Amino acid sequence: MFSHKSMATTPYIAAMIKAIPEIPHNSIFGHLKAYVQDPLAFLQKQQKIHGDIFSFRVARRRLIFINHPDSIRRVLQENHRNYKKSEAYRKLALLLGDGLFTSDGSYWLSQRRTIQPAFHRNQIMSYAETMNDFALKMVADWQDRKSICLTEEMTRVTLRIISKSILNIELDSKMNAVQQHLPFALRFMINRITSPLATPLWIPTRDNIKFKRSLKTLDSLIHSIIQHKKQNLGIDLLSQLITLRDEKTGEAMSDLQLRDELMTLFLAGHETTAMGITWVLNHILRNEPLKTALIREIRDIKHPWEATGNYFIQNVISEALRLYAPVWILSREAIDHDLLGEYRIAPGDRIIFSPYMVHRHAGFWADPLVFDPARFDSAPAHKFAYFPFGGGPRVCIGEHFALMEMTILLTTILKHYPYMALQSLEPVAYDYSITLRPDRDIVVSLT
Ligand code: HEM
Repeated sequence: MFSHKSMATTPYIAAMIKAIPEIPHNSIFGHLKAYVQDPLAFLQKQQKIHGDIFSFRVARRRLIFINHPDSIRRVLQENHRNYKKSEAYRKLALLLGDGLFTSDGSYWLSQRRTIQPAFHRNQIMSYAETMNDFALKMVADWQDRKSICLTEEMTRVTLRIISKSILNIELDSKMNAVQQHLPFALRFMINRITSPLATPLWIPTRDNIKFKRSLKTLDSLIHSIIQHKKQNLGIDLLSQLITLRDEKTGEAMSDLQLRDELMTLFLAGHETTAMGITWVLNHILRNEPLKTALIREIRDIKHPWEATGNYFIQNVISEALRLYAPVWILSREAIDHDLLGEYRIAPGDRIIFSPYMVHRHAGFWADPLVFDPARFDSAPAHKFAYFPFGGGPRVCIGEHFALMEMTILLTTILKHYPYMALQSLEPVAYDYSITLRPDRDIVVSLT
């Protein structure tokens, strides 16, 4: 790709550069109402009319939506240095601080290099046993129950798994505090990200006060874990982070840095996977032939982690992550001029793009709305037509961890409860949090 400046000086090429079409609006709030009410419905509707690139206003913000895998590859990979994490991520920093998910630049790079080895594909096998133990504990706990709420159970088990695997602690006694405060803090953050009219934090509204209280509780829980770990070093990730020294300065990570990375891994490491497995099961339990085929595959699998080598099971998980991408939207802010295809990007432009939408792009997927695991027998038509875990240098650090975890949970659940069924076959609508969540409880009968 040429740089924008060199392109503009070539008259022939400059003539090809286009301005991004803007969706007209007739309110001072722009498209705020429609976008906040149901962002995916809004984007899908506009994409049908305007195609794979357009801009629109949400109050005073101008957002550029891109939906072509070439443009997404440009932003995430080819010219990633030109795109920093956007304002939305900075707002998340209220909760996550300067952890891997929210930080940028050289600080992010050095933290990423430090944390990366703990998530290497080979390292993930060492977490399989923990995943298996908690999966078995969960299905054993279901023995005396007639029904369960899927989202709740998946959130609880994934939180237990991430805590034990990464921090080597069992959260049991502290579970209530985490389960009570984390979802509220998340919901609060999302409201602040989507609504430009959010009240400043210093105004003592009921929600602001409640958020500060939740943050304080979570902070003190994490600080107590760090202090405990400093006295009881082991081989877990937290111990590794505590003992690490910066190559140049020789300094250890401060308690604040440790807190930010832990809060990030806690959150990113369970909510996403919990929703991933919830959507897979919600789909399987509506599709009897698929369920039967899966149970047949699972019957011969002795240890659930062996299912990571089973093509059919892996294809089912890939296909579920295609149709129900838990991280449904990503965003970036341009630092300098760039071109996305023939469209001009200026410094400060805010760009959004949605794995959920690209995964259903008729230009890259045959019968995109049909659940067909066999489509993953071959590679997708474009590398960035399928990116549930993002892409480029900021690709999800927990991808292999999540895939192993989803495999073990799915296999264990279906093996123990082959007759489980949804209590209601009514379609489930979306609740747009950082992840794509079901808008109601999904209740499953176990017998
Ligand atoms: C199905 C489960 C998961 C999905 C769909 C998912 C998806 C994603 C996506 C799309 C990104 C990129 C965000 C961006 O570029 O703006 C990301 C980043 C990240 N994910 Fe995941 N994730 C999952 C599980 C996990 C797990 C299990 C962990 C940790 C154990 C984790 C930790 C992270 C972190 C730390 C980042 C930031 C990486 C960086 O910027 O260097 N994720 N994830």
